[in-house]
Formats: sequence, C-alpha cells, structure tokens
Amino acid sequence: MARADRFTGKRVVVLGGNSGIGLACAQGFAAEGALVRLTGRDPATIARATASIPGARGSSVDIADLAAMDAFYAKVEQEDGGIDVLMVNAGMGGFALLESMTPDYWDQVHAINLRGCVFAMQKAVRLMGDGGAIVVTGSIGGHAFVPGNAAYGAAKAGLALAMRQFAGEYVGQGIRVNMVSPGPIETPLLYRNPGMDEAAVEAMRAQMIAAVPMKRMGAAREVADAVLFLASAEASFITAANLMVDGGALEIG
Ligand SMILES: NC(=O)c1ccc[n+]([C@@H]2O[C@H](COP(=O)([O-])OP(=O)(O)OC[C@H]3O[C@@H](n4cnc5c(N)ncnc54)[C@H](OP(=O)(O)O)[C@@H]3O)[C@@H](O)[C@H]2O)c1
Repeated sequence: MARADRFTGKRVVVLGGNSGIGLACAQGFAAEGALVRLTGRDPATIARATASIPGARGSSVDIADLAAMDAFYAKVEQEDGGIDVLMVNAGMGGFALLESMTPDYWDQVHAINLRGCVFAMQKAVRLMGDGGAIVVTGSIGGHAFVPGNAAYGAAKAGLALAMRQFAGEYVGQGIRVNMVSPGPIETPLLYRNPGMDEAAVEAMRAQMIAAVPMKRMGAAREVADAVLFLASAEASFITAANLMVDGGALEIG
C-alpha cells in the first residue's frame, strides 16, 4: 500500500529488481514517485518488470562482474546525474551441506552475495553526493544455524558487517546505510535451488513455515514496506540498523 509520495523525484536504483523482493521494492518506490532503475541478469524478466512499472528503466548486469557494474554506473551518472537511493538486493540462494560443499559453490555464492554487493555499494556512494540512503537485503540465515547454509549464511553475515562499515565510513557524507533481513518469503528464489524437485521444495517450504511463529511465509511486499521505510526520510535518524522481517522467526522461533 503506497503511503505517501515519499520518493517524488528521487533517483532510485534497485540491484536485483526484476523478481521477488526487489521487484516489489521497485514497484513500491515507483508508486511513491521515484524514478526507478532496476537491474538483474535475465533480459525477459527485466523487460516484464520495466513494462509493469511506469517510467522504470532496466539493465541486464551481473553484480559479480565489476567491470560491467562500472559501465552500468557510468550510464547512470551520464543519464541521471547521480543516485539518491540504492537498494542492494541481488542475491542467489541454495543449500549445500558442509560434507558436500565445493569451493566453486562457495566462490559463486560469495562472488554475488558478498563481493558483488560490497563493490556495488562502494561504486554507488561516489554517485550519491552529499546524502542518500542505501538498503541492503540480508537474511536471517546470516544470523542463525540453518542446515546447508554455510556459504549463504557466511556471505549474508559478512554483508551485514560490511553494511555497518559503510554506515560508519559514510555517515559524514550524509549517507544512511541499513539492512533488512527477511525470513522465509514467497518468491521465485525458493524454486531456484539446484537439485531440488517440486516435492523437496514443498517439504522445505513446510519446514520453513513451521519455524516461523506467525506460521506463514512472508510476502515480498511486506519486505518492500520495510525497505521503503528505511530508504525514506521517515528513517532519517536510523543508520546501521538491521531490521528482521521474519514473522518473529529469529527472536522467538
Ligand atoms: N525469499 C526468501 O525467503 C529470502 C529470505 C532471506 C533473504 N532473501 C534475499 O532476498 C534477496 C532477493 O531474493 P528473492 O527472494 O526476491 O529471490 P528472487 O526472486 O530469486 O530474486 C533474486 C534477484 O537477484 C537477482 N540476481 C541474482 N543474481 C544476480 C547477479 N549475479 N547479478 C544481478 N542480479 C542478480 C535476480 O535477477 P536474475 O533473476 O535476473 O538473475 C533477482 O532479481 C536476495 O538477496 C536473497 O538472498 C530472500
């Protein structure tokens, strides 16, 4: 539900904005007046997302490819002159128990979920001038034990620390940096786990719901509401916060 025009005229970039949580955020920002740019890798979903959001522009750019990200930001600077709000949401899921986890899997997860996200922030703050807001998508998986979650959880835990570093090092530049850490949210991510058939996904989904005190999955829009709050002037005295959006799973699950 759009609350107001909190983002009128704001230049908002959503990295990973063509699906799930990022798409809900891009829609939310645009509904409140923002000029939205979104990225992802899949041209088809990028095209669908931009077509559904008035005024939105999309780019296919892999967050793990730092040279491609440089080219993307150069285009943003040239066309928009800067960035007011950055949402760093791109991320891959997946599970690998330690006994079978490979170095390649670890590297792939970290290249996207940690290294890519950190350098995406480093490059963006140069375009934020004397103020702005960054919201990063973490996960409750970065805070607690989940079987098979070593690579993903370590990347998200590292990202939470990096988020605080950015908040501290850029507070003098007027940039607020915060994180939302979702619990289980109903998005396409659930169905992108390599090696899991539909029955395995449904079993995992049931397990996730059982672990949430509210006994349901969250909706992407419920995460977007938290993101929009943290990105808005309503959160003007909030930086380095990590807001759980998890139906109570981490604290009381
Ligand atoms: N759903 C959950 O239960 C849950 C829980 C906690 C945290 N999260 C986090 O929430 C974020 C969004 O996930 P989601 O659930 O909305 O899943 P999703 O629908 O699969 O969205 C993932 C997004 O990240 C983009 N992305 C992935 N790898 C990328 C790369 N290398 N370069 C650029 N973009 C890339 C995807 O674009 P393409 O499809 O084009 O690659 C897509 O836009 C992720 O960071 C995830 O870790 C999700």
